[in-house]
Amino acid sequence: MTPALLGAVAGAAVGGALAYAYAQKSGASAKSCGGAKGNFKVCVCGGAGGIGQPLCMLMAMNPLVGELCVFDLNIAMVPAEGVAADIGHLERKCKVSAYTLDKEDKPVDKLKECLTGCDLVLVPAGLPRKPGMTRADLLGINAGIAKNIVEACAKFCPNAVLGLIVNPVNSVVPAMCELYKKKGLDHRKICGVTSLDIVRANKFVHEITGVPIEEIDVPVIGGHAGTTILPLFSQVPACAGIPDSKIPALDKHVQDAGTDVVNAKGGKGSATLSMAYAGAKFGNAVLQGLAGNDTTECAYVSMGADEKCELPYFATKVTFGRNGVKKVHDIGKLNEYEKGRLQEAMKQLKDEINAGLDYAKTTSLA
Ligand code: NAD
Ligand code: LMR
Repeated sequence: MTPALLGAVAGAAVGGALAYAYAQKSGASAKSCGGAKGNFKVCVCGGAGGIGQPLCMLMAMNPLVGELCVFDLNIAMVPAEGVAADIGHLERKCKVSAYTLDKEDKPVDKLKECLTGCDLVLVPAGLPRKPGMTRADLLGINAGIAKNIVEACAKFCPNAVLGLIVNPVNSVVPAMCELYKKKGLDHRKICGVTSLDIVRANKFVHEITGVPIEEIDVPVIGGHAGTTILPLFSQVPACAGIPDSKIPALDKHVQDAGTDVVNAKGGKGSATLSMAYAGAKFGNAVLQGLAGNDTTECAYVSMGADEKCELPYFATKVTFGRNGVKKVHDIGKLNEYEKGRLQEAMKQLKDEINAGLDYAKTTSLA
């Protein structure tokens, strides 16, 4: 087989596997991912990147999506136009279009057509980490990227739900929410996407218990970095048979999973395919909610007075409804191990939230 043909076959296999896996876990067929009808407009910013490409494909396959915009820079590994042309041939109703900017362009000056009318904007635009880096090391560069995109959303689609995938989620989300607040916009439209932590926890529990994967749903609370990632195995019936002595290692496996992928990719990126799967799961939860089927998914959001949370931002179960975030759920009952871990998680998370709040103090949206 020629290298080109091998690449094409591998690409098709990856795409097929992703679509199949997504359909399986969501209980839908490969051609139809749910009963709800919709015609939502979705934009993926950074849509020609490692996460962006498979995420665009999965969103285009979602029957709730009527229009998909692929936005990226002209320095992306593939032109956004190429990704859109490719995905536009899927036998789905979704219309796909591309928007490309130069690094010097400001999205707020150029993305009117792309963002106007968007219901959901997913943002995997930004640098991934390399071995030896923490997610926090990405704040300097990625906060600026996120800010320019959020600024354009504030202008052209202030009612859209924004799913921020870009790292460090723990700091970027508070920063962007504060900028929305300063602008008088609903900062609860902005969510940090932590679904990959849940996906991983579910898979690891399935591997050690053999319980069917469809029956496992581990809430993962706190944030999305190191010790802030807190899986609540005590709340999961499938985990009842796991001895207490095995929980710390399982917990650590979930915390370290992103770093494991970064190391396995040897400096050539971080999780992309599993993140696209998780991002599509998050996106589907939001769109189902907008379509009137309330759907619950963990996400990292601003905490209101009703939530009685010690921290202003926290990941927990969130129900998405017709206007986006509808209800932020209490974390529920924790066992002694989880109570100790919660203290550890909050200590790290507090500093990372503050880094985001500091960024927002010195910046404003146009
Ligand atoms: P990537 O480098 O493969 O793709 C990023 C894309 O963003 C590129 O196509 C690039 O051109 C584009 N981009 C860069 N600056 C931009 C800008 N100003 N405007 C629009 N597009 C821009 O990276 P990736 O592997 O897809 O990761 C993207 C981000 O997602 C990283 O920050 C990574 O850490 C993060 N991530 C988060 C999670 C999570 O669970 N939340 C999981 C995996 C990765
Ligand atoms: C992940 O959890 O895979 C992402 O946050 C990417 C990373 O840097 O680990």
